[in-house]
Amino acid sequence: MVVCRQKCYWNNFVITYFFVSALYLFIICFFNCYKVKIGKMSDELNEELNPSELGTLDYWEKVYADEINNFEDHGDIGEVWFGKNNAQKVVKYICENLNLEKNDKIIDLGCGNGWTLLQLAKNGFNNLLGVDYSPKAIELARSVLKDNGINSSTIQIKVLDILNIDNDETLMNFKLIHDKGTYDAISLNPENRQEQRAKYTKNIHQLLLTNGYLVISSCNWTQDELINHFKSGFEVLCTLQTPAMKFGGKTGQSVTNIIFTKKKL
Ligand SMILES: C[S@@+](CC[C@H](N)C(=O)[O-])C[C@H]1O[C@@H](n2cnc3c(N)ncnc32)[C@H](O)[C@@H]1O
Ligand SMILES: *[C@@H]1O[C@H](CO)[C@@H](O)[C@H](O)[C@H]1NC(C)=O
Ligand SMILES: *[C@@H]1O[C@H](CO)[C@@H](O)[C@H](O)[C@H]1NC(C)=O
Repeated sequence: MVVCRQKCYWNNFVITYFFVSALYLFIICFFNCYKVKIGKMSDELNEELNPSELGTLDYWEKVYADEINNFEDHGDIGEVWFGKNNAQKVVKYICENLNLEKNDKIIDLGCGNGWTLLQLAKNGFNNLLGVDYSPKAIELARSVLKDNGINSSTIQIKVLDILNIDNDETLMNFKLIHDKGTYDAISLNPENRQEQRAKYTKNIHQLLLTNGYLVISSCNWTQDELINHFKSGFEVLCTLQTPAMKFGGKTGQSVTNIIFTKKKL
């Protein structure tokens, strides 16, 4: 009786011991795998882009100096970034799906040659502002708009660095912010890209009305990356897909278009 009891006791002890160790190992392993996965995911979403000259004012000044010459010589307004198809699709979405009033304040960040503003004006919007930190871009946009007979009270254009708007009280209450390739350019800056991206996010949040929209098109960031970058201040309303552009049979980078609404903080 006594012997048996002791044997049972040992059996139980051994079984319990193995069971607990196995459980322990399982938990440790599961936790580690999970941690690695989560770590990897957030590392991937927090990576910076490789710096490039596309992130510098010098580069854009040169680009637009050339484009001004082309415009003067051939009347060619220059590159529509990320392709006309994609740009037209985004403009169409803005005009048809957001229930905007024609006099809602709209700003185009890094407006370049002013193509998007021109399309919005043609669709009846009349409270438009275009800003770009490149004086040459603004010079080109002014010529393009003048050439198209656009009244300067419909579209205002000015030189402005979107990362430096601290004391500008006119930059408020926008119903819609449009950005095509400007956040990309800022993300490619050889200096302080991470800091500048944070500044950008903070500034655009401040520009926008509580019920406003951010319409952003990017070639350098994926949909998941953009959503992650803006998640503290913005919620996704919808995304517009555009197939990758094709040049001479080669498939290029695809464009990510996202329409965000401002989160109430
Ligand atoms: C890829 S281009 C796109 C231009 C225009 N949005 C278009 O789609 O044709 C990027 C533009 O962002 C402008 N840009 C870059 N950083 C800026 C900043 N901090 N403030 C204002 N504009 C900026 C550049 O001068 C350039 O015109
Ligand atoms: C622009 O339009 C406004 C109102 O329609 C008008 O008063 C103004 O004279 C126009 N300006 C130019 C430069 O045509
Ligand atoms: C960013 O996108 C531009 C096209 O706008 C492309 O030329 C450039 O190579 C891209 N850079 C990176 C680092 O992805």
